[in-house]
Amino acid sequence: MSNQPDPELVKIVSGHVLLGQLEPDELARVLAFSRTERFSAGQVIFRRGEPGQSMMTVISGRIKISVSSSEGKEAVLAILGRGEVLGEMSLLDGKERSADATAMEAGEALSIHRRDFIPFLERNPAICIRMLGIMSNRLRRTSGMVEDRSFLDLPGRLAKTLIDLGKAGGTETEDGLRVETHMSQRSFGAMLGASRETINKQLKAWQDEGLVLTGRGYVVLIDPKRLARNVGLDIGI
Ligand code: CMP
Repeated sequence: MSNQPDPELVKIVSGHVLLGQLEPDELARVLAFSRTERFSAGQVIFRRGEPGQSMMTVISGRIKISVSSSEGKEAVLAILGRGEVLGEMSLLDGKERSADATAMEAGEALSIHRRDFIPFLERNPAICIRMLGIMSNRLRRTSGMVEDRSFLDLPGRLAKTLIDLGKAGGTETEDGLRVETHMSQRSFGAMLGASRETINKQLKAWQDEGLVLTGRGYVVLIDPKRLARNVGLDIGI
């Protein structure tokens, strides 16, 4: 352990939703307690039900948070990227991991043990409030997913998810708004509560109607407004 954190690491965490807010000396203290973990694509980071003693923040790569049924069906709860936090629930309540975490591509995360982070939280009410903000945001997103699954049919859910992904990080191209789905069609289906075949069929139907173009790991929304209208979505775009 060193009190001189790696400048490269400091640069990375400076944009971090939680750690980026710390004064330099506090940040140095937290980094001294942290370790960097590397993951390969497809590696299981932890499984639901395991004891959880640490929290991680993503440095690079994407991590899938999911739960599976005994028959092997999967529901994707979130895809976390750079700067996002995972494992905070067990860290706070001392219970088991509530979901599986799997690396979707090779990446790194900064891991902090409960025994080091809890005293740090006790000294930093502003960081506790930020953490509550992160958890509130997750609850909002999860409630939104429950709402969509209850009230939208599959085309509506798929169109809404693609348009949301496009708004959050899509790229304007000559053909339209390109959305990186960054995951296999199977995982994408799991996020929407539908099989890969059903998703493929719907995308193909939209492609035939000139609403989207599909490729490996991406979908281009030729005209997001027309797509929204097609499925009866009122999304204010
Ligand atoms: P933990 O329960 O320690 O381990 C699983 C992690 O998945 C959990 O902490 C959160 O970081 C994350 N997680 C669980 N449920 C959700 C959710 N609904 N939305 C986003 N992240 C979640």
